[in-house]
Amino acid sequence: MRQVLNLEFAQREHIPTTIYTSSDQACARVADAICELITARKAAGKPAVLGLATGSTPVRLYRELIRRHREEGLSFANVIIFNLDEYYGLIPEHPQSYRRFMQEQLFNLVDLKPENCHLPDGDVPREDVLASCHAYEEAITEAGGIDIQILGIGRTGHIGFNEPGSTPDSRTRLITLDSLTRRDAARDFLGEKNVPRHAITMGVATILNARKIFLLAWGEAKAEVIAQAVEGQQTEAIPASFLQKHPDCVFCIDEAAASHLTRVRHPWLVGMVEWSPAMIRKAVLWLSRKTGKPLLKLIEEDYSENGMADLLTEKGSAYELNIEMFNTAQHTITGWPGGKPNADDSHRPERAKPFPKRSLILSPEPLDDIYCMGGTLHRLVNQNNDVTVAYLTSGNLAVPDSEARRVIELMLELGEKRESADDLKFARLLDRKLREKGDFGDDPAEIRQLKGLIRRTESRSSARLLDTDSKRLRFLDLPFYENGRYRSFQPDESDVERLIELLREIRPHQIFATGFGNDPLSVPGLCFEILRSALAASQSEPWVNDCHIWLYRGPGMEWETHEIDMAVPLSPDEFENKIQGIYQHQTQRNQSPNLGKDGDGNTWNLASKFNRATASAYDALGLAEYEAIEAFKRLDINR
Ligand code: GLP
Repeated sequence: MRQVLNLEFAQREHIPTTIYTSSDQACARVADAICELITARKAAGKPAVLGLATGSTPVRLYRELIRRHREEGLSFANVIIFNLDEYYGLIPEHPQSYRRFMQEQLFNLVDLKPENCHLPDGDVPREDVLASCHAYEEAITEAGGIDIQILGIGRTGHIGFNEPGSTPDSRTRLITLDSLTRRDAARDFLGEKNVPRHAITMGVATILNARKIFLLAWGEAKAEVIAQAVEGQQTEAIPASFLQKHPDCVFCIDEAAASHLTRVRHPWLVGMVEWSPAMIRKAVLWLSRKTGKPLLKLIEEDYSENGMADLLTEKGSAYELNIEMFNTAQHTITGWPGGKPNADDSHRPERAKPFPKRSLILSPEPLDDIYCMGGTLHRLVNQNNDVTVAYLTSGNLAVPDSEARRVIELMLELGEKRESADDLKFARLLDRKLREKGDFGDDPAEIRQLKGLIRRTESRSSARLLDTDSKRLRFLDLPFYENGRYRSFQPDESDVERLIELLREIRPHQIFATGFGNDPLSVPGLCFEILRSALAASQSEPWVNDCHIWLYRGPGMEWETHEIDMAVPLSPDEFENKIQGIYQHQTQRNQSPNLGKDGDGNTWNLASKFNRATASAYDALGLAEYEAIEAFKRLDINR
């Protein structure tokens, strides 16, 4: 990107790819193309045919189109829509059907004619599926073919629901969903077991027939598959790689989704780079991984054989560079995440003074805190820092009905045993509300409140294991979450205000936060933006200048070694304690895709894998060998 001085990377990339600093910028560009098409077609008295996608990715594009409709008079009266796919076996009214998604996110909010909005029929009897798929293809042809196709991408490399194994000549058909895709959808369906096993999707050939294609991708979770689709061979293993065949396909992605492209990840392999300190660190640590050698054993040949000869010319010898990089990595390690009192801190990640520190841990949902930094939190508390954990959202959407039912049954029984009319009345009300909403309804306020409280109890028991007094836990219940649903959240000033108030009250010396590099519409991604706004609004407050911000990675992700500014090692006992803390979040055992599974497929604790992997990575650099490490990156507030 910026550091690359020529365009040699283009030789590696088989699909034109534009990297945007924000998803909003990318969406504005795609919205421009859609507007131009609609306007040109209208002038010619013809319809514009759009192929649209579901998922979080296109939501901001749809919001931008809705805005242009409301504020700039963009009309969709001459637009025909064909959506990519639909779950098989869901009626259109099902809260997770793509029909309902499109209606709520776009169709009902602009002047599209209902008869012009097509999705594959997910409710068609099995024996009619084939005919229905044919009819869908024919309808597209009759409309004149798709002018602009919008795509997201699944972590399996799927476009639409063309899972690995899909061929470039495939057409609209019934397919079986990949297990990773079902896991990724588990959160929407409150458990993987509820995710349909099949879907109807346009085929790869149907997609390739579109005259113009934009594929959008945000967040780190998509980085690997984007690199494979753009730089790899065309293969059925990554159906998106077949987009390389298309003459007019552009990938519009954000920086996080671009992070595995060679020009970003290993720019020295595709051209001249400016050797900034961060780039040197990234390159040398990569070299150690690539050669399988600890830092202090790298030799000149290793550098010159891996595109880094010019670095040696600039820096002198491998010997000096190795030592410098070793020391830099060594200095990230600390057992004192709040700073070590009375220590010389010239090489420590966190300063010694002031002590104790007011440490604020921001957890987008209950569980993120312990899952990602439970060991560090425990240390901060035991080292007598003044720790506050703030849960930004209640997390009530991630509680399955079965868990609420258990508590309601307990309340009913308790009410009966105690013969308390009031208690019984309330328990019965909850019981009725839960039944009334059924499988498809949204949780009414009382049920959401109950579910949020269940998550509070889990947070408290997990905090107990970390010696954290429950008075130190703050539940902010940010309004954007309480008033929204996944993929429809719309934070506003009231969310930012609530965080500003907390910051003002605590005046933290250090903040631990997450959400950087996440999908911008995910809960951590939105929470991070709220933090950014709250910090921007607090710039004039004296505490801001003395506050360090430490970023932790959300569940299912971890910083790479070159990104780590603070590495907090955990002993085997501390690590075990953290794992026990994670297990207090009973309602979450099947909920979030990123929490992951172990080999038995029945636990949600991938944290152990990630923390151990970081420890092994440090060990492989030639540093001390620890059981596990929690990693943090320092955020420059002004970036
Ligand atoms: C689903 C959809 C795809 C979409 C993918 C990614 O599988 N069928 O069309 O691209 O999800 O979803 P998200 O945008 O939420 O990451």
